[in-house]
Amino acid sequence: MMAEPRTSSIEGKLSEEFAVPSHVDEVKEKMAAFARHHAEAGRKVVLITSGGTKVPLESRTVRFLDNFSSGRRGASSAEYFLDSGYAVIFLHRHRSLYPYVRMFLTVNMLDVLQFRGAEGAAANSGDVVINQQLLPNIAKVLKRYNEVKDGTLLLPIEFNTLSEYLHLLKAAAQALSSIGSKAMFYLAAAVSDFYIPASEMPEHKIQSSNGPLQLSMKMVPKILSPLVKDWAPQAFVTSFKLETDSSILIDKARRALDTYRHQAVVANVLDSRRGYVVVVTPETQAELILTDEDVKNEVEIEDRIVSNLTSAHTKFITQQEG
Ligand code: PMT
Repeated sequence: MMAEPRTSSIEGKLSEEFAVPSHVDEVKEKMAAFARHHAEAGRKVVLITSGGTKVPLESRTVRFLDNFSSGRRGASSAEYFLDSGYAVIFLHRHRSLYPYVRMFLTVNMLDVLQFRGAEGAAANSGDVVINQQLLPNIAKVLKRYNEVKDGTLLLPIEFNTLSEYLHLLKAAAQALSSIGSKAMFYLAAAVSDFYIPASEMPEHKIQSSNGPLQLSMKMVPKILSPLVKDWAPQAFVTSFKLETDSSILIDKARRALDTYRHQAVVANVLDSRRGYVVVVTPETQAELILTDEDVKNEVEIEDRIVSNLTSAHTKFITQQEG
């Protein structure tokens, strides 16, 4: 078993080595009000993290380290949680995939728009219409998007850097603590494990004339530890485990559960993540697989993940209250 991280030292590191975003208190209050409002209306609230993190190599940043995450898992899961009656706080990386809009991102907007009437006839009048054929299901998606918007069921919060991600997640956890077990954390973001502290970072652009670059990076504190223990101890917490070697996946997921003592890990392998995951809990292990038929019918694996976790969350709440 991994040694359990000391949460007080993690908190210290967070405030000393990662710049606190200036808007963090304002965002925290917004998230707390959102959670209170929806919990009073009888809804559960899920905090989804989504997208990758960017780690700067210079303080006046020209270069940074990034990762592959598109935010698709987080954005599609948000839609399924909303369909399951949850209110959603969507803590996502700026410009990563966004619920509903994600379906149309490959379409060039200028191909979708056209002048009304015969070719070019009304070009001077400025009368522009959309070509719906290029936007499959647009009416259905737009209707759902507007329902979610009108019900203020989705609260989007953006992060850019690793520091912003860490502090905003802490603020979210504290904001959701007031609704206890009705809160779920769904930590799908791909967070960097390594960073360069501000005190060790060169101010200016690293010069290639100095020859090959050697980097020494520090470990990013595992935020899961204080989140589970101190910030939101009554919440249902789901972390994700990503590996490229499938033979170590389940063992790593179980070790995470042993170490952090949270409720579930969604284990996935980079290449197969769109069609296969394992939801691991202390007592169970559920393989979720999309068949060829599912793929043909455009079923998404996130539908299955969310269905599995919302059931587990309902049971968890009953146990906590009982
Ligand atoms: O965005 P997509 O392209 O759709 O891809 C989805 C995904 C593959 C990114 C997603 O399914 C996924 O697996 N996300 C987690 C990837 C990851 O960071 O795994 P990890 O093994 O490095 O981290 C495990 C867990 O530790 C994470 O849930 C994270 O919340 C937590 N962690 C990580 C770093 C850190 N400093 N503190 C943490 O608490």
